[in-house]
Amino acid sequence: MNLLVTGGAGFIGSHTCVLLLEAGHRVTVIDNLCNSAAIALARVQELAGKPLRFVEGDIRNPDALARAFAGGIDAVIHFAALKAVGESCEQPLRYFDNNIGGTIALMQAMEAHGVQRLVFSSSATVYGQPDRVPVKEDAPLRVTNPYGRTKLVMEQLIQDWCAARPEASAVLLRYFNPVGAHPSGRIGEDPRGEPNNLMPYIAQVAVGRREYLRIYGDDYPTPDGTGIRDYLHVMDLAEAHLKAVDYAAAHAGCEAFNLGTGRGYSVREMVAAFEAASGRAIPCWSVERRAGDVTELTADPAQANARLQWRATRGLEAMCADAWRWQQMNPEGFTHVS
Ligand code: NAD
Ligand code: UFG
Repeated sequence: MNLLVTGGAGFIGSHTCVLLLEAGHRVTVIDNLCNSAAIALARVQELAGKPLRFVEGDIRNPDALARAFAGGIDAVIHFAALKAVGESCEQPLRYFDNNIGGTIALMQAMEAHGVQRLVFSSSATVYGQPDRVPVKEDAPLRVTNPYGRTKLVMEQLIQDWCAARPEASAVLLRYFNPVGAHPSGRIGEDPRGEPNNLMPYIAQVAVGRREYLRIYGDDYPTPDGTGIRDYLHVMDLAEAHLKAVDYAAAHAGCEAFNLGTGRGYSVREMVAAFEAASGRAIPCWSVERRAGDVTELTADPAQANARLQWRATRGLEAMCADAWRWQQMNPEGFTHVS
């Protein structure tokens, strides 16, 4: 297929592009590089041994979109978004403009070019604090921050679009906690500034860029007192996008799928696993809980297992080993490489 990948230079997008190219798809990426580097796309092409087409531009810019859709597109995978929860609380308008405004502009361009298939990056954040875990797709949706609200609104607008077009198909992928890196160590997660998320923070402590990890709360009602999440390997997540593209081609309508392993790990378990993978000590300090954090969030991935024919196969050891390889080979991320 001819696929348009928005946000394809980012963490999850770059890993997905490698697999899409390897599977024989023709890939166009549109990305404004607001949270990524063009070198990631050079490495994607090197890893896949195939070229992709890159349109550097913003999905809110109709001219950039017109360039991206030129030549014919069969389906869109939509990663492009701002994703930092804390920043979204400080700059809600920027998040609404970029994420929701961007999605509206993208879908208008899809309509103008007769494109009816969409795979969308949603998030487990749409569940807020669920009543029970593992959470199923039909659990109540109750977001707790502006970033989460943008994801919920985008899901709803995609649902409404599908309802108005019986031939259209959309797959809403609710990611839990993507971690790890391509096993080559050539691409990986490269947050700008101080990482918000656990795994990149641990990796930067291990490599010596940061002194210690702050554990946000050790008084949660969990076995070791720290928060529990469903971490999944980014290569498993990338594979889910291949399945989702095929699923969208075969099924009309809009469906949501949880993407996780179904197994939760605590912060302390993650630290121990990373120490084992890296052979480095990770100094930790327990501090206050982080505002908005939930105790435990894990996926019930049964729908994705059954309907997408997708299952996460990589365990915690591979997640840590691959993240560590990437961090060691690129201690400053993509910043100081040519
Ligand atoms: P990322 O920041 O690495 O990638 C997003 C990419 O989109 C970046 O390359 C950025 O430059 C680009 N982008 C942002 N706004 C744009 C715009 N207006 N026009 C063009 N390009 C734009 O993030 P990621 O971790 O790869 O996440 C990808 C998607 O998955 C996002 O939608 C995110 O909300 C979602 N998601 C991520 C996680 C996670 O923990 N990483 C969890 C759940 C959902
Ligand atoms: N944590 C720490 N110290 C840190 C960072 C995180 O103790 O420096 C803890 C958190 O308190 C939490 C766990 O590690 O218990 C995981 O935190 P992350 O920030 O890595 O992940 P979250 O589950 O909070 O959120 C992530 C994304 C959200 C997304 C959500 C569900 O940041 O955008 O997963 O997909 F919505």
